[in-house]
Amino acid sequence: MSEEKHSSGPHPDNKASLEQAAMQDDNMQDVHAQLMREKEEPKEGFSPVPIVLMFIFAALCFWGGVYLVHYSGGFRWDAYSPNFDPNADKPVPKEIPLFERGQKVFSQQCAVCHQASGAGVPGVYPPIAGSEWVTEHPEVLARILINGLNGPIEVMGNTYNGNMPAFGPGGLNLSNKDLAGVMTYIRQEWGNAASEMSVPMVDTYLAAYASRSTPWTAAELKEGLGPIPEPEPVAEEATEGEADAAQAGDGQAEEAAH
Ligand code: HEC
Repeated sequence: MSEEKHSSGPHPDNKASLEQAAMQDDNMQDVHAQLMREKEEPKEGFSPVPIVLMFIFAALCFWGGVYLVHYSGGFRWDAYSPNFDPNADKPVPKEIPLFERGQKVFSQQCAVCHQASGAGVPGVYPPIAGSEWVTEHPEVLARILINGLNGPIEVMGNTYNGNMPAFGPGGLNLSNKDLAGVMTYIRQEWGNAASEMSVPMVDTYLAAYASRSTPWTAAELKEGLGPIPEPEPVAEEATEGEADAAQAGDGQAEEAAH
């Protein structure tokens, strides 16, 4: 009998415990189902970053940029070196020598008439190369340049009669440096060998002749000339010393001087 029972089904005790277990399973499934229901449904797409957070990030980036610009030391590897000089590799502004400056001014302002070779145009524009008007008294040359020249003039044995425009404040108004440069250039180019005309010299002549409104004539040019100014070796040495100091990397002194 007992064998029959065994074969027909599980032991009654076993059956009870199985039913119980099934009940518990149902319970559990209920609880799970509840939990599943309560969970938020997954959505497609993405949720946007809160706008406040975006503003905070933007502000942070902006502040970071400003901070870097001010305190990064230009991202230089030697920014924290005790010998750091922020102006060390800035090019030192170099004063162009008068002669070089004058060469440029001449090619822009004078070569049209007097030619790049300084030879002039026969019968029209007198030569600059070899002209005694250029190489003798600096005041004569300054007068010609500042106020212009008019009427007959003899240059190297030939007579010219034209109009030389004024380059002073009453004319084409070149700067004192340009005037000093171009006069120095024509006194020293093409075999001309006269002294340079410094900026202070030109300033003196400008002060004397800037107010004159008429061009000179050849005869007038030789009248009332002052003494030929001595070249100033002291001033030249001073400028050379300055240049040396600047080359030694004394950028700050240079900046202060400007
Ligand atoms: C528009 C043409 C013209 C230009 C530009 C000109 N000159 Fe002249 N220059 C003349 C003429 C013309 C004379 C002669 C004037 C006369 O006959 O009275 C002259 C005369 C001179 C003289 C005296 C005579 C001599 O040959 O030595 C000098 C110096 C001179 N010029 C320099 C210059 C310089 C430097 C410049 C440029 C800054 C210049 N000129 C630009 C036309 C010009």
